[in-house]
Amino acid sequence: MKYMSGFGNSFETEALEGALPVGRNSPQRVAHGLYAEQLSGTAFTAPRSENRRSWLYRIRPAAMHGQFSPYTGASAFHNDFGDGPVTPDQLRWNPLPMPEAGATVDFVDGLFTMAGNGGPAALHGVGIHLYAANADMRDRWFYDADGELLIVPQQGRLRIATELGVLEVEPQEIAIIPRGVRFAVSLPGGAARGYVCENFGAQLRLPDLGPIGSNGLAGARDFLYPVAAYEDEEGNFELVAKFQGHLWRGDIGHSPLDVVAWHGNYAPCKYDLRRFNTIGSISHDHPDPSIFLVLTSPSDTPGVGNMDLAIFPPRWLVAQDTFRPPWFHRNVASEFMGLVHGAYDAKAEGFAPGGASLHNCMTGHGPDAATFEKASNADLSKPDVIADTMAFMFETRAVIRPTRQALEAAHRQRDYQACWAGLRKHFTAPR
Ligand SMILES: [Fe+2]
Repeated sequence: MKYMSGFGNSFETEALEGALPVGRNSPQRVAHGLYAEQLSGTAFTAPRSENRRSWLYRIRPAAMHGQFSPYTGASAFHNDFGDGPVTPDQLRWNPLPMPEAGATVDFVDGLFTMAGNGGPAALHGVGIHLYAANADMRDRWFYDADGELLIVPQQGRLRIATELGVLEVEPQEIAIIPRGVRFAVSLPGGAARGYVCENFGAQLRLPDLGPIGSNGLAGARDFLYPVAAYEDEEGNFELVAKFQGHLWRGDIGHSPLDVVAWHGNYAPCKYDLRRFNTIGSISHDHPDPSIFLVLTSPSDTPGVGNMDLAIFPPRWLVAQDTFRPPWFHRNVASEFMGLVHGAYDAKAEGFAPGGASLHNCMTGHGPDAATFEKASNADLSKPDVIADTMAFMFETRAVIRPTRQALEAAHRQRDYQACWAGLRKHFTAPR
C-alpha cells in the first residue's frame, strides 16, 4: 500500500500513465477517454489557505446513477438529536455489542448514532456514531453529503476503498473521509467496531502550535493520502447517500470508484495516533487537555472549535508536588470520550475499550474515587508511565445531545454516577 504524505497538501496521482492532464484541469479530451470532474469541498471563493478541491479523471461522471429513494434497510444512523430537554447527567456506555451471530451487518448498517448537535442544514455541529460490523460492503458504496467522517477504529482493521484510492486503517489509526467522497468499507480482519464523528462544520485541520513552536503534537507529514486506484466494473450495484440527516439509495450500474487519476487537496487521509508527539508538564500541574489536540474544526469564533479531536496516548507523568491524573473539572465545552485501547488513567474501571462517556457543558466530572485515593497517595519522587492506552475525546462548543436510542440502550451504564459516590469528605475545619 503506497501513500503520499503531508496534511492538506495538493497531490497529483495517476493509476495509468498519462491520465493526468498537464497544464489543464479540463482539457477538451482527457487521455484514455476519461471524463474530467471537479469535486469542491469549500466555497469556490474561499481564501487560498482554506480552499479545497480536487480534479478527478474518471471512467464515468458521478452524475450517472438511478433515482434516489429513501433507504429501507435497518439503520440506526441518523441526525435526530431531538429538541426536547437534555439530561445534564454524566453518561457512560459499555461497548456497542457486536452483530449477533448469523446477522450480516456491514459498515453502513452497523452505524449507531449516539449523540450530536447542530446538523447538516445548519452547517455546524457533529454527529457522533459508533459502528459494529461483521461484513464487507458488497456491491454498494456510500457517501455522506452532510459532513466529513472522522473514523476511529477500536477493533478490527478497515479497508476503505474510496474514489481517490485505498486506505488501510487499523485500531490506533484514524481516517478522514471528506464530505461527498464515495467509498466502501471491507473488513480484512473480520468483525470491526469503532467510533465515527460526522463533522457538519468547517473541515478538520491541524491546530496552530503557538508557543509550542514548529514541532510537536500531530506532524503534518504523518498524514497519509492514497494514490489513485480505480475499479472498472459493471453490474447491478447500489449507491447509498446520506443527505440532510437521512439515508437514500439508488441503483448504479458501475463501480463509482472509477477515478483513474486525480490532483488537488480534497482527499481522504489517515493518521497513526501513535505518532502523536505528546507534550506535557515537566514541573508541576499538567496543562489543559488542549495540549492533546490532534485536529480541530474551527467555528466562526476565533479559538473556539466546532469540534476538536484530542487524544490521551501513552505518556510519562513526571510532574512533582501535584495531582497527576486529570483533575476534577467542569467546562463550557462538552466532551464525548471513547477508549480505543488499554485503560484510561482517570477511571479505575467501567470505561472499557469500545465504551463511551458523555460529560456535557458544566457537568462536573473527573477521576473516580479509587483513582483519587491512589493518585493522592502516589509516590511523586518517581516518574510514572502510562504505557498502554489510547483514549480520545470529541470536544464540541455546543451541548452534545444523546439520542433516544443511546439513552435507552441496554449497554448504557445506569449506575455511572456511583463511581464518584465513594469520594470521602476529608475536610476538617481548624479549631
Ligand atoms: Fe473532562
